[in-house]
Amino acid sequence: MRNDGETILIVGGAGFIGSNFVHYYRAKYRNATIIVFDALTYAGNIKNLETVQEDIIFIKGDITNKNDVDHVFQQYNIDFVLNFAAETHVDRSILGPEIFLETNVKGTHVLLEASKKYAVKRYLQVSTDEVYGDLGDTTGTYFTEETPLSPNCPYAASKASADLFVLSYFETYNLPVLITRCTNNYGPFQYPEKLIPFFITKALQNEKLPVYGDGKNIRDWLYVKDHCRAIDLVLQKGRIGEVYNIGGHNEKTNLEITKLLLDKLGKSHDLITYVEDRKAHDRRYAMDASKIEKELGWKPEHTFEEWIDGTIDWYINNEEWIRSCQK
Ligand SMILES: NC(=O)c1ccc[n+]([C@@H]2O[C@H](COP(=O)([O-])OP(=O)(O)OC[C@H]3O[C@@H](n4cnc5c(N)ncnc54)[C@H](O)[C@@H]3O)[C@@H](O)[C@H]2O)c1
Repeated sequence: MRNDGETILIVGGAGFIGSNFVHYYRAKYRNATIIVFDALTYAGNIKNLETVQEDIIFIKGDITNKNDVDHVFQQYNIDFVLNFAAETHVDRSILGPEIFLETNVKGTHVLLEASKKYAVKRYLQVSTDEVYGDLGDTTGTYFTEETPLSPNCPYAASKASADLFVLSYFETYNLPVLITRCTNNYGPFQYPEKLIPFFITKALQNEKLPVYGDGKNIRDWLYVKDHCRAIDLVLQKGRIGEVYNIGGHNEKTNLEITKLLLDKLGKSHDLITYVEDRKAHDRRYAMDASKIEKELGWKPEHTFEEWIDGTIDWYINNEEWIRSCQK
């Protein structure tokens, strides 16, 4: 399958991963028609798309609003739907779960209905490792696509629910769906409430870096461009109705990340302050990505050691962008 010349609807394309994907896709498929549909919530930023604005169609709209969604599908002949749109911050989901249910579950359902009604060629749902729950204090164990869903926080529960709806539309209506589940991403354009940009901005202002619990929670970090490549491969060549795990085999504790950022920024570890642990804070996530590696030939191309430097530099050089997030 060739994506060039097709029309792709990138939902949530003004957020962190979505906007990186828009840049990636624009550069790779010059003849594709790219429509970005995004509600521009606090996490969405039109500035993320500034350099490609001439090459895309941007539509401000809400996936929980059937009329907004239907209007886009009526107006354009959409081949592919890629859903990045979500409420994504775990802390916010603990404080107020309802909007996670609305956006992540109901919003996904609205997109599935429209995708069915207008018979799209492929619908890809961007999901997360968090749906599998917690690997605990283990080493050498990994989530596979067969691992039962066992989400622990409202964010993860909403993403798992959405995944189940997506798979049900394949089984029930033969909608050609795909799901990708990825580990933590890092890179440019990430809203500065998430660990890496949050701690970079704190450290640059010589403010305390609040580390949850003992700081030993482990996440597997992947450069966002490697995630974008994986999504593109799954969209093109993935088997319909399948789930693909994506991960970098780059496990780090939150404390390791925090110290690494402070060292690279030339700041003292005294800026670290330990705070009460997050509720239901999963201890360890790690992905077995052998399915996408074997079936589709994907492998991460960017090493953490190299690309974390570029990421830190990006935030240092884009203070104005950081300010634009504080709306
Ligand atoms: N960030 C990660 O490390 C990571 C890892 C694995 C999976 N994911 C998944 O990838 C997707 C994108 O994550 P992200 O970090 O880029 O998120 P983000 O929070 O940076 O961006 C989310 C985007 O969705 C938009 N949006 C929110 N509600 C909407 C609505 N009702 N209608 C239309 N648009 C709406 C926002 O405006 C924003 O542009 C999410 O589904 C997330 O679960 C993220």
